[in-house]
Amino acid sequence: MLSDVNEFSRSGKVKEEQWGAFGPHIYYQAADVQNAKTYKEFSTRIKELEKEWKAPANVIYYLAVAPNFFPIIAENLAKAGLTEDAERTRIVIEKPFGHDLGSAKELNMLLGRIFQEKQIYRIDHYLGKETVQNIMAFRFANAIMEPLWNRNYIEHVQISVTESLGVGERTGYYDGSGALRDMIQNHLLQLLCIVAMEPPVSFSAEEVRDRKVDVLRAMRRFTPESVREQAVRGQYGPGWIEGKEVPGYREEPGANSQSNTETFAAVKFFVDNWRWHGVPFYLRTGKRLHRSASVITIQFKEVPHFIFPPETVDTMKQNRLVISIQPEMSIRLQVQAKRPGVEMMLNTVDMVFDYKGTYVSEAPEAYETLLLDVMLGDQTLFMRGDQVEEAWDLVMPILTSWQNRISQNFPNYSADSWGPEVAEALVAKDGFHWFTLPLNNKKQ
Ligand code: BG6
Repeated sequence: MLSDVNEFSRSGKVKEEQWGAFGPHIYYQAADVQNAKTYKEFSTRIKELEKEWKAPANVIYYLAVAPNFFPIIAENLAKAGLTEDAERTRIVIEKPFGHDLGSAKELNMLLGRIFQEKQIYRIDHYLGKETVQNIMAFRFANAIMEPLWNRNYIEHVQISVTESLGVGERTGYYDGSGALRDMIQNHLLQLLCIVAMEPPVSFSAEEVRDRKVDVLRAMRRFTPESVREQAVRGQYGPGWIEGKEVPGYREEPGANSQSNTETFAAVKFFVDNWRWHGVPFYLRTGKRLHRSASVITIQFKEVPHFIFPPETVDTMKQNRLVISIQPEMSIRLQVQAKRPGVEMMLNTVDMVFDYKGTYVSEAPEAYETLLLDVMLGDQTLFMRGDQVEEAWDLVMPILTSWQNRISQNFPNYSADSWGPEVAEALVAKDGFHWFTLPLNNKKQ
Protein backbone atom coordinates (compact mmCIF):
# COMPACT_ATOMS: atom_id res chain seq x y z
CA MET A 1 0.00 0.00 0.00
CA LEU A 2 2.85 2.35 0.79
CA SER A 3 4.30 2.05 -2.69
CA ASP A 4 0.90 2.76 -4.25
CA VAL A 5 0.27 5.72 -1.99
CA ASN A 6 3.66 7.08 -3.03
CA GLU A 7 2.84 6.55 -6.66
CA PHE A 8 -0.75 7.77 -6.79
CA SER A 9 -1.42 10.17 -3.93
CA ARG A 10 -2.23 13.70 -5.10
CA SER A 11 -0.20 15.02 -2.15
CA GLY A 12 2.97 13.34 -3.40
CA LYS A 13 5.22 10.99 -1.46
CA VAL A 14 4.16 10.27 2.07
CA LYS A 15 6.34 11.48 4.95
CA GLU A 16 8.07 8.68 6.81
CA GLU A 17 6.83 9.66 10.25
CA GLN A 18 3.25 9.96 8.97
CA TRP A 19 3.32 6.50 7.46
CA GLY A 20 5.01 5.23 10.59
CA ALA A 21 2.00 6.37 12.60
CA PHE A 22 -0.64 5.25 10.10
CA GLY A 23 0.76 2.10 8.47
CA PRO A 24 0.63 -0.20 11.53
CA HIS A 25 -3.16 0.31 11.65
CA ILE A 26 -3.63 -1.51 8.37
CA TYR A 27 -4.44 -5.19 8.50
CA TYR A 28 -5.07 -7.64 5.76
CA GLN A 29 -7.37 -10.55 6.12
CA ALA A 30 -7.87 -13.00 3.25
CA ALA A 31 -11.54 -13.90 3.11
CA ASP A 32 -13.90 -16.27 1.38
CA VAL A 33 -17.13 -14.28 1.53
CA GLN A 34 -19.27 -17.41 1.16
CA ASN A 35 -17.72 -19.11 4.19
CA ALA A 36 -19.08 -18.50 7.71
CA LYS A 37 -15.55 -18.90 9.10
CA THR A 38 -14.56 -15.60 7.46
CA TYR A 39 -17.09 -13.69 9.53
CA LYS A 40 -15.94 -15.34 12.77
CA GLU A 41 -12.44 -14.19 11.93
CA PHE A 42 -13.68 -10.64 11.34
CA SER A 43 -15.48 -10.71 14.64
CA THR A 44 -12.40 -11.96 16.51
CA ARG A 45 -10.20 -9.33 14.86
CA ILE A 46 -12.61 -6.51 15.70
CA LYS A 47 -12.84 -7.65 19.32
CA GLU A 48 -9.06 -7.88 19.63
CA LEU A 49 -8.65 -4.37 18.28
CA GLU A 50 -11.30 -2.95 20.54
CA LYS A 51 -9.49 -4.47 23.48
CA GLU A 52 -6.20 -3.02 22.34
CA TRP A 53 -7.74 0.44 21.71
CA LYS A 54 -9.91 0.31 24.82
CA ALA A 55 -12.67 1.82 22.69
CA PRO A 56 -15.50 0.51 20.55
CA ALA A 57 -14.63 0.33 16.86
CA ASN A 58 -16.48 2.05 14.02
CA VAL A 59 -16.82 -0.62 11.40
CA ILE A 60 -17.39 0.03 7.70
CA TYR A 61 -18.05 -2.86 5.36
CA TYR A 62 -17.17 -1.57 1.92
CA LEU A 63 -18.53 -3.94 -0.72
CA ALA A 64 -16.49 -3.20 -3.83
CA VAL A 65 -17.36 -6.65 -5.12
CA ALA A 66 -19.43 -8.21 -7.90
CA PRO A 67 -23.11 -7.41 -7.22
CA ASN A 68 -24.14 -11.05 -6.81
CA PHE A 69 -22.11 -11.05 -3.57
CA PHE A 70 -23.99 -8.12 -1.95
CA PRO A 71 -26.77 -10.28 -0.46
CA ILE A 72 -24.44 -13.11 0.57
CA ILE A 73 -22.10 -10.79 2.42
CA ALA A 74 -24.87 -8.79 4.08
CA GLU A 75 -26.61 -11.92 5.31
CA ASN A 76 -23.42 -13.50 6.58
CA LEU A 77 -22.46 -10.33 8.42
CA ALA A 78 -25.87 -10.35 10.08
CA LYS A 79 -25.62 -14.03 11.02
CA ALA A 80 -22.28 -13.43 12.67
CA GLY A 81 -23.78 -10.58 14.72
CA LEU A 82 -21.59 -8.02 12.98
CA THR A 83 -24.31 -5.54 12.04
CA GLU A 84 -26.08 -4.99 15.32
CA ASP A 85 -24.61 -1.68 16.41
CA ALA A 86 -26.53 0.76 14.20
CA GLU A 87 -24.46 3.70 15.46
CA ARG A 88 -21.07 2.21 14.68
CA THR A 89 -21.62 -0.15 11.78
CA ARG A 90 -22.03 0.97 8.17
CA ILE A 91 -22.22 -0.79 4.84
CA VAL A 92 -21.10 0.74 1.55
CA ILE A 93 -22.57 -0.68 -1.64
CA GLU A 94 -20.92 -0.03 -4.97
CA LYS A 95 -22.90 0.21 -8.15
CA PRO A 96 -24.68 -1.40 -9.90
CA PHE A 97 -27.46 -1.30 -7.31
CA GLY A 98 -29.79 -3.80 -8.95
CA HIS A 99 -30.16 -4.72 -12.56
CA ASP A 100 -33.71 -3.45 -12.91
CA LEU A 101 -36.51 -2.20 -10.68
CA GLY A 102 -37.36 -5.65 -9.32
CA SER A 103 -33.82 -6.57 -8.33
CA ALA A 104 -33.17 -3.13 -6.82
CA LYS A 105 -36.30 -3.48 -4.67
CA GLU A 106 -35.23 -6.94 -3.60
CA LEU A 107 -31.79 -5.72 -2.60
CA ASN A 108 -33.28 -2.77 -0.72
CA MET A 109 -35.58 -5.13 1.13
CA LEU A 110 -32.82 -7.50 2.05
CA LEU A 111 -30.55 -4.69 3.27
CA GLY A 112 -33.49 -3.14 5.08
CA ARG A 113 -33.99 -6.31 7.10
CA ILE A 114 -30.40 -6.17 8.31
CA PHE A 115 -29.49 -2.50 8.43
CA GLN A 116 -31.23 0.79 9.13
CA GLU A 117 -31.23 3.22 6.19
CA LYS A 118 -28.78 5.45 8.07
CA GLN A 119 -26.22 2.62 7.92
CA ILE A 120 -26.48 2.09 4.16
CA TYR A 121 -24.23 4.10 1.83
CA ARG A 122 -25.07 3.51 -1.85
CA ILE A 123 -22.24 4.98 -3.89
CA ASP A 124 -22.68 7.02 -7.02
CA HIS A 125 -19.20 8.43 -7.46
CA TYR A 126 -20.46 11.33 -9.59
CA LEU A 127 -21.92 12.86 -6.44
CA GLY A 128 -18.46 13.05 -4.91
CA LYS A 129 -17.00 15.03 -7.78
CA GLU A 130 -15.98 18.51 -6.71
CA THR A 131 -17.65 20.21 -9.67
CA VAL A 132 -20.90 18.31 -9.06
CA GLN A 133 -21.03 19.33 -5.41
CA ASN A 134 -20.39 22.88 -6.54
CA ILE A 135 -23.64 22.96 -8.54
CA MET A 136 -25.50 23.07 -5.26
CA ALA A 137 -23.29 25.85 -3.95
CA PHE A 138 -23.75 27.76 -7.19
CA ARG A 139 -27.53 27.38 -7.16
CA PHE A 140 -28.26 27.80 -3.48
CA ALA A 141 -25.60 30.19 -2.18
CA ASN A 142 -26.26 32.85 -4.85
CA ALA A 143 -29.37 34.98 -4.97
CA ILE A 144 -29.12 35.81 -8.66
CA MET A 145 -29.61 32.28 -9.98
CA GLU A 146 -32.93 31.32 -8.45
CA PRO A 147 -35.15 33.88 -10.27
CA LEU A 148 -33.84 32.62 -13.63
CA TRP A 149 -33.85 28.92 -12.79
CA ASN A 150 -37.18 27.89 -14.26
CA ARG A 151 -39.32 27.44 -17.35
CA ASN A 152 -39.79 31.19 -17.78
CA TYR A 153 -36.13 31.70 -18.66
CA ILE A 154 -34.68 28.30 -19.47
CA GLU A 155 -35.37 26.82 -22.87
CA HIS A 156 -33.73 23.45 -22.48
CA VAL A 157 -31.03 21.59 -20.57
CA GLN A 158 -28.37 19.19 -21.88
CA ILE A 159 -26.39 16.77 -19.77
CA SER A 160 -23.68 15.09 -21.73
CA VAL A 161 -21.13 12.58 -20.45
CA THR A 162 -19.02 11.42 -23.35
CA GLU A 163 -16.08 9.05 -23.08
CA SER A 164 -13.36 8.34 -25.62
CA LEU A 165 -12.42 4.95 -24.16
CA GLY A 166 -14.11 1.81 -25.40
CA VAL A 167 -15.43 -0.99 -23.21
CA GLY A 168 -12.15 -2.89 -23.56
CA GLU A 169 -11.79 -5.76 -21.08
CA ARG A 170 -15.05 -4.99 -19.28
CA THR A 171 -17.44 -6.71 -21.72
CA GLY A 172 -18.22 -9.39 -19.10
CA TYR A 173 -19.95 -6.76 -16.99
CA TYR A 174 -20.95 -4.34 -19.72
CA ASP A 175 -22.72 -6.71 -22.06
CA GLY A 176 -25.40 -7.40 -19.49
CA SER A 177 -25.65 -3.70 -18.71
CA GLY A 178 -25.36 -1.13 -21.51
CA ALA A 179 -25.15 2.66 -21.42
CA LEU A 180 -28.65 3.24 -20.03
CA ARG A 181 -28.06 1.07 -16.95
CA ASP A 182 -24.37 1.88 -16.59
CA MET A 183 -24.62 5.67 -16.79
CA ILE A 184 -28.08 7.18 -17.26
CA GLN A 185 -29.99 5.35 -14.52
CA ASN A 186 -27.49 6.58 -11.96
CA HIS A 187 -24.85 9.21 -12.80
CA LEU A 188 -26.73 11.30 -15.37
CA LEU A 189 -30.07 11.21 -13.57
CA GLN A 190 -28.33 12.27 -10.37
CA LEU A 191 -26.87 15.26 -12.22
CA LEU A 192 -30.32 16.07 -13.54
CA CYS A 193 -31.73 15.95 -10.00
CA ILE A 194 -29.17 18.46 -8.75
CA VAL A 195 -29.95 20.83 -11.62
CA ALA A 196 -33.71 20.47 -11.25
CA MET A 197 -34.25 20.13 -7.47
CA GLU A 198 -36.09 22.69 -5.38
CA PRO A 199 -34.00 24.54 -2.81
CA PRO A 200 -33.74 22.34 0.28
CA VAL A 201 -34.57 23.86 3.67
CA SER A 202 -31.08 22.98 4.90
CA PHE A 203 -28.03 21.11 3.71
CA SER A 204 -28.84 18.06 5.79
CA ALA A 205 -28.72 14.63 4.16
CA GLU A 206 -32.45 13.99 4.42
CA GLU A 207 -33.46 17.43 3.18
CA VAL A 208 -31.19 17.24 0.14
CA ARG A 209 -32.22 13.69 -0.68
CA ASP A 210 -35.91 14.49 -0.25
CA ARG A 211 -35.68 17.30 -2.77
CA LYS A 212 -33.78 15.10 -5.21
CA VAL A 213 -36.25 12.26 -5.04
CA ASP A 214 -39.04 14.81 -5.64
CA VAL A 215 -37.50 15.46 -9.05
CA LEU A 216 -37.44 11.77 -9.96
CA ARG A 217 -41.03 11.43 -8.84
CA ALA A 218 -42.03 14.39 -11.00
CA MET A 219 -40.38 13.02 -14.12
CA ARG A 220 -42.74 12.06 -16.89
CA ARG A 221 -43.06 8.31 -17.30
CA PHE A 222 -42.53 6.73 -20.71
CA THR A 223 -45.02 4.88 -22.84
CA PRO A 224 -43.91 2.51 -25.61
CA GLU A 225 -44.63 5.34 -28.11
CA SER A 226 -42.69 7.98 -26.21
CA VAL A 227 -39.74 5.59 -25.86
CA ARG A 228 -39.58 5.45 -29.64
CA GLU A 229 -39.76 9.23 -29.92
CA GLN A 230 -37.55 10.24 -27.02
CA ALA A 231 -34.90 7.56 -26.56
CA VAL A 232 -32.20 6.53 -29.01
CA ARG A 233 -29.33 4.10 -28.74
CA GLY A 234 -26.10 3.28 -30.49
CA GLN A 235 -23.24 0.83 -30.57
CA TYR A 236 -19.75 1.65 -31.75
CA GLY A 237 -18.17 -0.04 -34.69
CA PRO A 238 -14.46 -0.27 -35.46
CA GLY A 239 -12.53 2.85 -36.33
CA TRP A 240 -9.41 4.88 -35.84
CA ILE A 241 -8.39 6.99 -32.88
CA GLU A 242 -5.25 9.10 -33.10
CA GLY A 243 -3.88 6.98 -35.94
CA LYS A 244 -4.52 3.70 -34.11
CA GLU A 245 -7.03 1.16 -35.32
CA VAL A 246 -9.55 0.25 -32.62
CA PRO A 247 -12.05 -2.62 -32.59
CA GLY A 248 -15.82 -2.27 -32.64
CA TYR A 249 -17.80 -3.21 -29.55
CA ARG A 250 -18.65 -6.63 -30.95
CA GLU A 251 -14.94 -7.32 -31.53
CA GLU A 252 -13.80 -6.34 -28.02
CA PRO A 253 -12.21 -9.20 -26.04
CA GLY A 254 -14.90 -11.54 -24.74
CA ALA A 255 -17.73 -9.71 -26.52
CA ASN A 256 -20.70 -11.39 -28.12
CA SER A 257 -20.36 -10.93 -31.89
CA GLN A 258 -24.15 -10.41 -32.20
CA SER A 259 -24.50 -8.21 -29.11
CA ASN A 260 -27.50 -5.92 -28.95
CA THR A 261 -26.03 -3.95 -26.02
CA GLU A 262 -26.02 -0.18 -26.47
CA THR A 263 -22.76 1.68 -25.86
CA PHE A 264 -24.49 5.01 -26.46
CA ALA A 265 -27.83 6.34 -25.25
CA ALA A 266 -29.58 9.67 -25.57
CA VAL A 267 -32.92 10.39 -23.95
CA LYS A 268 -35.24 13.38 -23.75
CA PHE A 269 -36.84 13.70 -20.31
CA PHE A 270 -39.44 16.04 -18.86
CA VAL A 271 -39.93 17.09 -15.26
CA ASP A 272 -43.63 17.71 -14.78
CA ASN A 273 -43.82 20.32 -12.07
CA TRP A 274 -44.37 24.07 -11.93
CA ARG A 275 -40.70 24.94 -12.27
CA TRP A 276 -39.91 22.77 -15.28
CA HIS A 277 -43.10 22.04 -17.15
CA GLY A 278 -42.34 21.87 -20.90
CA VAL A 279 -38.55 22.23 -20.56
CA PRO A 280 -36.78 19.29 -22.22
CA PHE A 281 -33.78 17.73 -20.48
CA TYR A 282 -31.61 15.93 -23.03
CA LEU A 283 -29.21 13.39 -21.58
CA ARG A 284 -26.59 11.61 -23.63
CA THR A 285 -23.68 9.33 -22.90
CA GLY A 286 -21.52 7.00 -24.89
CA LYS A 287 -18.23 5.24 -25.21
CA ARG A 288 -15.56 5.60 -27.90
CA LEU A 289 -16.69 9.12 -28.73
CA HIS A 290 -14.61 11.95 -30.07
CA ARG A 291 -13.70 13.34 -26.67
CA SER A 292 -14.16 12.63 -22.96
CA ALA A 293 -16.10 15.44 -21.36
CA SER A 294 -18.92 15.80 -18.85
CA VAL A 295 -20.82 19.02 -19.41
CA ILE A 296 -24.17 20.41 -18.32
CA THR A 297 -25.55 23.14 -20.55
CA ILE A 298 -28.45 25.30 -19.50
CA GLN A 299 -29.73 27.16 -22.52
CA PHE A 300 -31.77 30.26 -21.82
CA LYS A 301 -34.57 31.59 -23.97
CA GLU A 302 -34.06 34.18 -26.68
CA VAL A 303 -34.36 37.85 -25.86
CA PRO A 304 -38.03 38.83 -26.19
CA HIS A 305 -37.29 41.49 -28.80
CA PHE A 306 -34.00 41.99 -30.67
CA ILE A 307 -33.34 45.71 -31.10
CA PHE A 308 -30.12 45.58 -33.14
CA PRO A 309 -30.08 45.39 -36.95
CA PRO A 310 -29.60 41.80 -38.22
CA GLU A 311 -26.13 42.57 -39.64
CA THR A 312 -24.74 43.28 -36.15
CA VAL A 313 -24.59 39.61 -35.39
CA ASP A 314 -23.24 36.60 -37.32
CA THR A 315 -25.27 34.01 -35.51
CA MET A 316 -27.51 35.12 -32.72
CA LYS A 317 -26.70 33.10 -29.65
CA GLN A 318 -28.89 32.62 -26.67
CA ASN A 319 -27.36 32.88 -23.23
CA ARG A 320 -25.93 29.65 -21.97
CA LEU A 321 -24.65 28.53 -18.66
CA VAL A 322 -22.09 25.81 -19.22
CA ILE A 323 -21.12 23.76 -16.20
CA SER A 324 -18.10 21.72 -17.08
CA ILE A 325 -17.58 18.82 -14.70
CA GLN A 326 -14.53 17.16 -16.23
CA PRO A 327 -11.83 17.22 -17.47
CA GLU A 328 -12.19 20.98 -17.58
CA MET A 329 -13.59 22.23 -14.30
CA SER A 330 -15.39 25.48 -14.87
CA ILE A 331 -18.63 27.37 -15.08
CA ARG A 332 -19.02 29.74 -17.99
CA LEU A 333 -21.87 32.09 -18.67
CA GLN A 334 -22.09 32.91 -22.34
CA VAL A 335 -23.40 36.38 -23.04
CA GLN A 336 -23.61 38.74 -26.02
CA ALA A 337 -21.25 41.70 -25.99
CA LYS A 338 -20.19 44.47 -28.31
CA ARG A 339 -17.13 43.67 -30.34
CA PRO A 340 -14.61 46.54 -30.01
CA GLY A 341 -14.74 48.86 -33.02
CA VAL A 342 -16.56 51.80 -34.47
CA GLU A 343 -19.52 49.75 -35.58
CA MET A 344 -22.05 47.99 -33.43
CA MET A 345 -21.20 44.34 -33.90
CA LEU A 346 -22.08 41.65 -31.42
CA ASN A 347 -20.45 38.42 -30.49
CA THR A 348 -20.58 35.83 -27.76
CA VAL A 349 -18.17 36.12 -24.84
CA ASP A 350 -17.70 33.92 -21.79
CA MET A 351 -17.76 34.99 -18.17
CA VAL A 352 -15.69 32.24 -16.64
CA PHE A 353 -15.09 30.72 -13.24
CA ASP A 354 -12.27 28.28 -13.77
CA TYR A 355 -10.91 26.08 -10.99
CA LYS A 356 -7.38 26.18 -12.36
CA GLY A 357 -7.25 29.95 -12.39
CA THR A 358 -9.00 30.35 -9.05
CA TYR A 359 -7.58 27.69 -6.74
CA VAL A 360 -4.05 26.50 -6.19
CA SER A 361 -4.82 23.20 -4.51
CA GLU A 362 -6.01 20.25 -6.52
CA ALA A 363 -9.56 19.03 -6.01
CA PRO A 364 -9.87 15.72 -4.16
CA GLU A 365 -10.89 12.60 -6.04
CA ALA A 366 -14.57 11.75 -5.74
CA TYR A 367 -13.78 8.63 -3.72
CA GLU A 368 -11.63 10.58 -1.31
CA THR A 369 -14.62 12.73 -0.44
CA LEU A 370 -17.10 9.87 -0.36
CA LEU A 371 -15.11 7.48 1.78
CA LEU A 372 -14.36 10.23 4.26
CA ASP A 373 -18.09 11.00 4.40
CA VAL A 374 -18.80 7.36 5.23
CA MET A 375 -16.33 7.57 8.10
CA LEU A 376 -17.94 10.79 9.31
CA GLY A 377 -21.44 9.37 8.93
CA ASP A 378 -22.64 11.96 6.40
CA GLN A 379 -25.09 10.54 3.85
CA THR A 380 -25.76 13.71 1.85
CA LEU A 381 -23.80 12.51 -1.19
CA PHE A 382 -25.15 8.98 -1.20
CA MET A 383 -28.21 7.50 -2.83
CA ARG A 384 -31.15 6.68 -0.62
CA GLY A 385 -33.12 3.52 -1.32
CA ASP A 386 -36.17 5.37 -2.67
CA GLN A 387 -34.03 7.41 -5.10
CA VAL A 388 -32.56 4.29 -6.62
CA GLU A 389 -35.98 2.73 -7.06
CA GLU A 390 -37.50 5.86 -8.61
CA ALA A 391 -34.63 6.07 -11.10
CA TRP A 392 -35.12 2.43 -12.08
CA ASP A 393 -38.86 2.93 -12.35
CA LEU A 394 -38.26 5.82 -14.75
CA VAL A 395 -35.95 3.95 -17.13
CA MET A 396 -37.71 0.56 -17.06
CA PRO A 397 -39.95 1.20 -20.12
CA ILE A 398 -36.88 2.12 -22.17
CA LEU A 399 -34.97 -0.95 -21.02
CA THR A 400 -37.90 -3.22 -21.75
CA SER A 401 -38.55 -1.71 -25.13
CA TRP A 402 -34.89 -1.94 -26.17
CA GLN A 403 -34.66 -5.49 -24.96
CA ASN A 404 -37.69 -6.50 -26.98
CA ARG A 405 -36.68 -4.60 -30.09
CA ILE A 406 -33.35 -5.87 -31.40
CA SER A 407 -31.53 -3.01 -33.06
CA GLN A 408 -31.19 -3.82 -36.74
CA ASN A 409 -28.49 -1.29 -37.53
CA PHE A 410 -25.85 -1.91 -34.84
CA PRO A 411 -23.06 -0.88 -35.01
CA ASN A 412 -24.33 2.56 -35.96
CA TYR A 413 -21.50 4.92 -35.06
CA SER A 414 -17.78 4.81 -35.57
CA ALA A 415 -15.02 5.39 -33.08
CA ASP A 416 -14.01 9.02 -32.71
CA SER A 417 -17.44 10.32 -33.77
CA TRP A 418 -20.07 12.05 -31.62
CA GLY A 419 -22.37 9.04 -31.72
CA PRO A 420 -25.13 7.83 -34.04
CA GLU A 421 -27.10 10.12 -36.36
CA VAL A 422 -30.30 9.33 -34.49
CA ALA A 423 -28.88 11.25 -31.52
CA GLU A 424 -28.44 14.37 -33.62
CA ALA A 425 -31.95 13.90 -34.96
CA LEU A 426 -33.35 13.65 -31.42
CA VAL A 427 -32.36 17.24 -30.65
CA ALA A 428 -32.51 18.58 -34.21
CA LYS A 429 -36.22 17.85 -34.50
CA ASP A 430 -36.74 20.27 -31.59
CA GLY A 431 -34.52 22.86 -33.31
CA PHE A 432 -31.40 22.27 -31.15
CA HIS A 433 -27.97 20.72 -31.52
CA TRP A 434 -25.69 19.02 -29.01
CA PHE A 435 -23.38 21.46 -27.39
CA THR A 436 -19.67 20.60 -27.19
CA LEU A 437 -17.17 22.68 -25.35
CA PRO A 438 -14.46 23.86 -27.77
CA LEU A 439 -11.08 22.36 -26.88
CA ASN A 440 -9.21 25.62 -26.43
CA ASN A 441 -12.30 27.39 -25.09
CA LYS A 442 -11.15 30.57 -26.74
CA LYS A 443 -14.24 31.01 -28.81
CA GLN A 444 -17.35 29.11 -29.75
C1 BG6 B 1 -18.71 4.02 -14.09
C2 BG6 B 1 -19.15 3.23 -15.31
O1 BG6 B 1 -19.70 4.03 -13.12
O2 BG6 B 1 -18.43 5.36 -14.50
C3 BG6 B 1 -18.08 3.28 -16.39
O3 BG6 B 1 -19.38 1.89 -14.93
C4 BG6 B 1 -17.72 4.71 -16.72
O4 BG6 B 1 -18.52 2.60 -17.56
C5 BG6 B 1 -17.39 5.49 -15.44
O5 BG6 B 1 -16.61 4.70 -17.59
C6 BG6 B 1 -17.19 6.95 -15.75
O6 BG6 B 1 -16.70 7.60 -14.60
P1 BG6 B 1 -15.76 8.87 -14.71
O7 BG6 B 1 -15.55 9.33 -13.29
O8 BG6 B 1 -14.50 8.42 -15.39
O9 BG6 B 1 -16.50 9.86 -15.53
